[in-house]
Amino acid sequence: MPLEVKDVESGYGKVTVLHGVNLKVASGEIVVVLGPNGAGKSTLMKTIAGHLQPTAGSVEFDGADVAGMSAQDVSRRGIGYVPQENNVFRELTVRDNLRVVSLAFPNAQDRVANVFDRFPILAERATQRAATLSGGERQTLAMSSALIADPTVLLLDEPTAGLAPMFVAQMVEWVSELATEGMAVVWVVEQNPEKILAASTRTCLVEGGRSTAEFESAELLEPGRLQELLLEEREEEPGESPAT
Ligand SMILES: Nc1ncnc2c1ncn2[C@@H]1O[C@H](COP(=O)(O)OP(=O)(O)OP(=O)(O)O)[C@@H](O)[C@H]1O
Ligand SMILES: [Mg+2]
Repeated sequence: MPLEVKDVESGYGKVTVLHGVNLKVASGEIVVVLGPNGAGKSTLMKTIAGHLQPTAGSVEFDGADVAGMSAQDVSRRGIGYVPQENNVFRELTVRDNLRVVSLAFPNAQDRVANVFDRFPILAERATQRAATLSGGERQTLAMSSALIADPTVLLLDEPTAGLAPMFVAQMVEWVSELATEGMAVVWVVEQNPEKILAASTRTCLVEGGRSTAEFESAELLEPGRLQELLLEEREEEPGESPAT
């Protein structure tokens, strides 16, 4: 098991947000993290990636406990992280975004060319400033930046939020391809998870900073099952569902 999160507690200063989260993902597997707004999904990703230090629990990766290591050490060991927000250098071109990241990793220069081979959409926009990319292009660049480090685990924090169904399908295809090549993927999803669930093996539910359930993703795709689950979530948090 390349990544196993056990009973992790974490938060911001004195505010504890995660009160015990468990998660594991194997090589070649896509695991979905599902939960309502504010459940702690991003906090979990930040904690695994070393941007937050857990106050309890462990993050086992490749036989070591990486909990408490710096973000730089965690990424050097092979955990790639695509944050939900601010995930590119907006003022730099696409190529310079990739180059800047490549400077931090030995032998990573060649991988800029690999990225352009894999994502032609970025090659076409190599000299364009990241700030001017479409939402889907920006998320593609953010994921590519993480791939420059040649990770074995990839953490994706809602890379398709608010984007068109066609891009969701494209992202699912790319990520599935990475998984086929052996990548362990943790994919945080909040809205319209069906397509992503279909590409994944298991789904971990996070609610109120806790792991509350784990499912075979196929089970959640049975008619009505997902709606039932999301409805249960709402009922547990009266008044907190966004007014859409
Ligand atoms: N930098 C921060 N400082 C203090 N509290 C924070 C900070 N970031 C998030 N929180 C709080 O932590 C809790 C969990 O937030 P988090 O961003 O992890 O949720 P999430 O599940 O990713 O939600 P969403 O689906 O909206 O992205 C929320 O109550 C939030 O207000
Ligand atoms: Mg989030």
